[in-house]
Amino acid sequence: MNSRFESLFRPMSFPNGIEVSGRFVMAPMVINSSNADGTVTDADIAYFKRRAKTGQLLITAACYNDIMAQWLDYQYGIFDDKHLPGMTEMAQAMKSEGAKAIMQVYHTGREASVTQRDYGVAYGPSTIKFPFLEYEVTGMSERKIQDVIGFFGDATRRAIKAGFDGLEIHGANHYLIQQFFSTTSNKRTDKWGGSLEKRSAFALAIFDEVKRVAQEESAEPFILGYRISPEEIHGSDIGYTLDDSLYLIEQLVSRGVDYIHSSLWGVDSYKNTAAMGAYENQSINQVIKSVINKRCPLIVVGGIGSAEAALDALEYGDLVAMAAAAIAEPDLAEKIRTDRVDEITLNITGRMEELKIPYGVKTVRWILESSGTLPQETLDALDTLKLPDHYVMASDQRIFS
Ligand SMILES: Cc1cc2nc3c(=O)[nH]c(=O)nc-3n(C[C@H](O)[C@H](O)[C@H](O)COP(=O)(O)O)c2cc1C
Repeated sequence: MNSRFESLFRPMSFPNGIEVSGRFVMAPMVINSSNADGTVTDADIAYFKRRAKTGQLLITAACYNDIMAQWLDYQYGIFDDKHLPGMTEMAQAMKSEGAKAIMQVYHTGREASVTQRDYGVAYGPSTIKFPFLEYEVTGMSERKIQDVIGFFGDATRRAIKAGFDGLEIHGANHYLIQQFFSTTSNKRTDKWGGSLEKRSAFALAIFDEVKRVAQEESAEPFILGYRISPEEIHGSDIGYTLDDSLYLIEQLVSRGVDYIHSSLWGVDSYKNTAAMGAYENQSINQVIKSVINKRCPLIVVGGIGSAEAALDALEYGDLVAMAAAAIAEPDLAEKIRTDRVDEITLNITGRMEELKIPYGVKTVRWILESSGTLPQETLDALDTLKLPDHYVMASDQRIFS
């Protein structure tokens, strides 16, 4: 290996003592190739087996933990014990080359468009009609809130049973936990809404429950990560700022979270700067890293698809995650390690079978396109994937072909 890249292959320890042998992480990605009931398919397992060396830490797609929290058709879930056999096989595939396997778990809240279509309801912190949703969101009762906190605990129990090394709480990307944290979607006046402390309470209650179950159920140390979108700012709509996120991060770190995963989106976005607040114009990730102050690792993501970008990203975080590039070039890390940097390519033309790209990736092409990391030839190649005959899409899920 070229010695310039050595830092990408230095081991890193989590606070609980578990160590990874290098700094690459495969970021979570829904790929819509599962069965309609949320159980995984052979295609899901083959996809991860092929990516067993993509990182030293591999994260599943977001698994929905409540049947009332489904966003897309054919995404996998973890709301029932029927998901266990498939998840066990998937954990084995992910760990087959020595990587640690993490299950990402979420409740989609207002984004549960499949649930809304099939059951006529999508929950959120407050009853609101958003202009960007066709349906009104139903505010959660206290009982529903307690149920959902419990569902995160149930998912933890299942992740441990299935053989995962850890669980990532998905507190990012506008799903339920973020909806509670945001002033634009949380209008509650009880203990779950209002002040920054109260808007953080749902995230922290979930963390406490996940930690409690992990301590009870796992004989081994179990990695507990948390993914956060550091800012929620859309024009003049300010859900929360980086300053607010730093408060939540501090709470999580002091409660013993094993890593923070900063979710940024778009070309070179791992270098994004804060839009406002005390750290305006400063690197979001560098600010988070300094606040964490070595108490746990920070995972950074966003537009990383080359050896140089991966190396540069270590200036911003401790671990470097790739999503789009993990689909197109699952061997990026291995090619750096074995001195074949010039063979790295994000063009998948003619390689789709060998790369074990599942058919469902065709239906998330629009997400891949918006992340901006992949070349046009790759997006065009995804259009040629054939969906199985049984595959019926919800009307709001776009297929470009
Ligand atoms: C197809 C696709 C599916 C995604 N699914 C998830 C997901 O399940 N959970 C999540 O936290 N982020 C998800 N993301 C976001 C990625 O994890 C990542 O943060 C984002 O794509 C930016 O990284 P990249 O530039 O390397 O693609 C998804 C992104 C893509 C492209």
